[in-house]
Formats: sequence, C-alpha cells, structure tokens
Amino acid sequence: MSTSGCLHTRATDAPEAGERKLVYIKTFGCQMNVYDSERMTEALVTEGYTETTVLEQADLVVLNTCHIRERAVDKVYSDLGRIRDVKHERQRAGKATTVAIAGCVAQAEGAEIARRVAAVDVVVGPQSYHLLPDLIGRSKTEGQIVATEFLDDDKFTALPARNRRASTAAFLTVQEGCDKFCTFCVVPYTRGAELSRPVAQILDEARKLAAGGVREMTLLGQNVNAFHGVDADGNEVSLAGLIKALALIPELERLRYTTSHPRDMRDDLIALHASEPKLMPNLHLPFQAGSDRILAAMNRKHTAADYLALVQRIRAVNPALALSTDIIVGFPGETEAEFEATLQMVRTVQFAQAYSFKYSARAGTPAATMDGQLPEAVKTERLHRLQALLAEESTRFNAGCVGKVFPVLFEKAGRRAGQLIGRSPYLQSVYADVDVRALGQILPVQISAAGPNSLAGVVCAPVV
Ligand code: SAH
Ligand code: SF4
Ligand code: F3S
Repeated sequence: MSTSGCLHTRATDAPEAGERKLVYIKTFGCQMNVYDSERMTEALVTEGYTETTVLEQADLVVLNTCHIRERAVDKVYSDLGRIRDVKHERQRAGKATTVAIAGCVAQAEGAEIARRVAAVDVVVGPQSYHLLPDLIGRSKTEGQIVATEFLDDDKFTALPARNRRASTAAFLTVQEGCDKFCTFCVVPYTRGAELSRPVAQILDEARKLAAGGVREMTLLGQNVNAFHGVDADGNEVSLAGLIKALALIPELERLRYTTSHPRDMRDDLIALHASEPKLMPNLHLPFQAGSDRILAAMNRKHTAADYLALVQRIRAVNPALALSTDIIVGFPGETEAEFEATLQMVRTVQFAQAYSFKYSARAGTPAATMDGQLPEAVKTERLHRLQALLAEESTRFNAGCVGKVFPVLFEKAGRRAGQLIGRSPYLQSVYADVDVRALGQILPVQISAAGPNSLAGVVCAPVV
C-alpha cells in the first residue's frame, strides 16, 4: 500500500481508442458529495470512461461516501461486500474491476478501509479527488493507494472544466470545510478548514453551467453563509455579494444556498431576501436543539433566544420566506424537559420542512466521550415524537399553498405518462400534467392538492 502526495505527471489509465470503459458511481451523504461525484464523473469521462448504472458491467466502481452518522458508514461497508463479490465474479470471467472509495469515510478511515477490504484499490479524500484518474492508473502497478492529505494545490483549478450537459437545476460548491467544531460533528475533520473559492472561478463555472441549460443553481458549502471569497481586484466578497454577481447571469433564473449557520447570517444576506428576485424564498437554517444547555454542550455558539431573534429579523425582511432546519435528538445528557424545548422550538418557528436525526456517537468527536450517552430506545422514541410534529408542520405549510399560483421550474418526467415534476420557489416537488416541452421552463401552476412532501397543480399558461 502506498500513500500519495501531489502528483505532477499524469500516469493515467486512459482506455485505448475504441475501447469503452464503464464507471459506476454511487453517492452517499450531502449535496456536496453530489457535486463532487459530478466533478469526478466529468474527470473520468475526460479520460474516456462512460457512466453505467449497472454495477456488474463496471470496470471502475466509485463509492463517494458519508461519515456523518454510524448508519451512513454501515451502508458503505455493506455495499463494499457486494462490490467485492462482483469484482471476484468478473475476475473469474477475465475482467478487471478497480474499486475506489472517495468522500468522507475515505478521509476519516484512510488506510483502515484498504486494510479491512482487500478489494479496494484506491482510497481518496474529498480534497484529493482531482487526482483520481492518476491514482487509478498507479494502483494497477503499485497496489492499494491511499490519498487523504489536505493538499495545497487547488483541486478546482486542476479538474477539467465543466463538460457534461447539465440538467435544469445544478449544485455549485462555493465554500468547503468548517471551523465551527460542533462537538457531535465529523465534518471539520473530514472536510478540513473552511475555505472559500475565488469569485472569478465560481462565476466562470456558473456561466458554463448556465450556457449548458442550468436555470436554477444552489450554492453549496458546509457553512455557505461564512463565504468570503476574493474577487479579481483582491477584495473580499460576502455570500450576498456573490449572489448579486451571479444574479447578473441572464440564463440563471433562480438562486439558492445551503447550509447556513445561524452565527454567520449577516445583514446583507438577510436584506437580499427582500431585494433580489432571483433569490428563492427559502432558507435552511439548522438549530439542532431547543435547550440552551444542550446547545452549549454542542458548541453551537447560539442560544434558543438568539435563534428566535434571528428568525424574527429574517421574517421582518421577507414574511413569505419559508424556513427549514436540521435537528438532533438524544444528544448525551438530554433530559425529557430539554427534548421538550426542541419540540417547543418547532412549534414556535413553524418550519416548512426539516431533517431530524438520532444523535450518533462519532469516534474522535468530543461528544462521543461525554457522560450521559442515551439508550437507543430513548432516542428512537424521541425521534418518533419529533417527526410526528414535523409532519404536522410541513403538512400545514403545504396545505396553505393550495389555491396559490406558483412559478414552477419543470425538471423531470413524473411516474405517469404526460406528468412532469417541477420545483416550487419553496423547493416543494410539484406534479402537473403538462407537455414534455415544459422541461426546463418556469410556468405558473395553480396548486390544487397538497401532501406532507409534495404538491399537485394545474399549469395555467401555454407551453411555448
Ligand atoms: N454544515 C451543516 C450541516 C452538516 S451535517 C450545519 O452546520 O448545519 C448535516 C446534519 O447532520 C447536521 O445539521 C446535524 O443535524 C446532523 N448531524 C451531524 N452530526 C451528527 C451526529 N453525530 N449524529 C446525528 N446527527 C448529526
Ligand atoms: Fe458540523 Fe457544526 Fe460545522 Fe455544521 S457547523 S459542519 S454541524 S461542525
Ligand atoms: Fe457526509 Fe461528508 Fe457531507 S460526512 S454529510 S458527505 S460533508
């Protein structure tokens, strides 16, 4: 097994002309992994690979993994079992398979994965995936390779320019890493220190995506509202400044950003929710817990009152804005009364949508060794109670949309013939019967029905 530093030569494994190599990529975890998988795929397509959705056909298998909760890691190892079997079957048929593990499990476990699973050829962390084609080539002669250093070179500069036909909606990573060190979270360890991409680089990528057909762009970062990129004149630009610059790209009709930390929600960004029509009226703002004692133990750096005051400031600027959030139940030492404070926060804020999780102890994080780790049954019971409340809230929010006319961006075919699925400004899925030419267009839709997770409606303008 060898570890890799910065590579200056490209010892690639590019297929011979006419030879078609297939790559199967599976993505776990957050939107940043979705974006990274897209960039890895592009890099591999440049090297002559074609994507396949059939594992058994793949010459190269890439798992882009997530380390956030124990279950996320378990899924990776269970997939690896199946991949090992497929690799052996293909071997018997005389076909080689390269297996690459990318993403946050790769970063956190490094050589341990290679040791545990002999079928793994390459382990590559989120900061090194631009080296993937080289690493695949090297693994043919050197055996297992682990590349998990935080390199000084800029992977975004090293990656090939965006080159695939984009879909209607796209992610664009503008900021990576996190310096917040919430005591439950692995991200500062797997993704490293907070880093903002240069503004010119982001604008260039956004223009390419827009020219390829993207109409809605979601700016990504583990702490996206901490963005402070440098522009061509060397001046620091806030996320609000970046959004204003992106809004000038004519083809981009909708802009969103995620995930924001309550501590980094600056006034210029809040104000933009009133002044910039391309900025969509939804905001994902995790609060994690309703009790101040738990919030302090989580090192969230905000109190429940801070969070509520922030919500008030945001709603004063744009009363129509919909909030979504992330919540953890069963943090070490959480009492029933402290859990009640979380339920109370949900009732007070009235979120349009939320993700909720049982606390999962992650090795190496401070919370994993705190006293008062709760039994699984307590966490499960609290999660059920919380999710029942959240379902009520999102059902109420969606029901309030019935009768309204929303501009809907149509993105893909529905299950039924003649049906398309689009997105409302609030990010709800909207089902409507409409001509397939509506794909990629924004059309007014009168909402006629609502469920907990989606809306249905009638298109009220002709498709051109
Ligand atoms: N950067 C974002 C989100 C990071 S991870 C933020 O700061 O909000 C996404 C969500 O996973 C977190 O908001 C949190 O709710 C959840 N999460 C993170 N670590 C967890 C853990 N150890 N157990 C359970 N949930 C966790
Ligand atoms: Fe994790 Fe906290 Fe950073 Fe979010 S802000 S990525 S929860 S450490
Ligand atoms: Fe998971 Fe890494 Fe994202 S741990 S949530 S894939 S940043």
